Amino acid sequence: MSTYKNVRRVTTKVLQAMKENNEKIVMLTAYDYSMARLIDAANMDVVLVGDSASNVMAGYESTLPITLDHMIYHASSVVRAVNRALVVVDLPFGTYQGNSRLALESAIRIMKETGAAAIKLEGGAEVEESIRRILSAGIPIMGHLGLTPQSIHKFGTYVVRATEEEEAEKLIEDAHLLEELGCFAIVLEKIPAKLAAQLAKEIKIPIIGIGAGAEVDGQVLVLHDMLGITQEFSPRFLRRYHDLSTEIKKAVSEYINDVKRLDFPNENEQY
Ligand code: KIV
Repeated sequence: MSTYKNVRRVTTKVLQAMKENNEKIVMLTAYDYSMARLIDAANMDVVLVGDSASNVMAGYESTLPITLDHMIYHASSVVRAVNRALVVVDLPFGTYQGNSRLALESAIRIMKETGAAAIKLEGGAEVEESIRRILSAGIPIMGHLGLTPQSIHKFGTYVVRATEEEEAEKLIEDAHLLEELGCFAIVLEKIPAKLAAQLAKEIKIPIIGIGAGAEVDGQVLVLHDMLGITQEFSPRFLRRYHDLSTEIKKAVSEYINDVKRLDFPNENEQY
């Protein structure tokens, strides 16, 4: 039974307490008002307005094209729906790398124009300056290491990361750096479960995994993947809780048939 179920508002402090009390943190993406309302009503701990919106909402092949304005549109819709969960918003590609002033401006726009409680960004040492500057403005940051989709053109593929010693060592250093800098949590994406478990033990802030095994402090999935709305994406780590694409297609076909055979609307469905 959850000790934190009745928390009226999940904050970064609540997440820290959950880690310290061995209660798993659950995070799910949302990009619009209606879905975010349902997710929040189900008692989600963290709602992530992920830049995966670029794929699942806009149909791009990667997360690179989505803009800050798009993210602000999605995030403000989500914030209007959520009463309990902590809302975290991804800083999109090109809005924080290599220029810490731009990073701060981008983060401030997210906080001011959406009402979200925190931002997430990808990378470790290479974005240290940006992280320092954003944190200095009192904006909470969730880090993201391992498979970082904004760097897909550097990696070339979406295969599991940090399987080689050199990359694993860099990831361990980066995770410690993010903790030292003052990030409140870290997402680890698609890395060996053993490495993620080691980091969740060593690091005091919550570690949220996606394809990083069970021995971390919480899990995150992309909403459209776990509901089975997206069909073409099937990594090993993904558990599908529903087959909504089949259900939606069935409902839409029934509607089409009903209209064509003059069954809809019937007498009770008109004025
Ligand atoms: O954008 C996103 O959905 C994410 C999750 C996969 C963690 O960053």
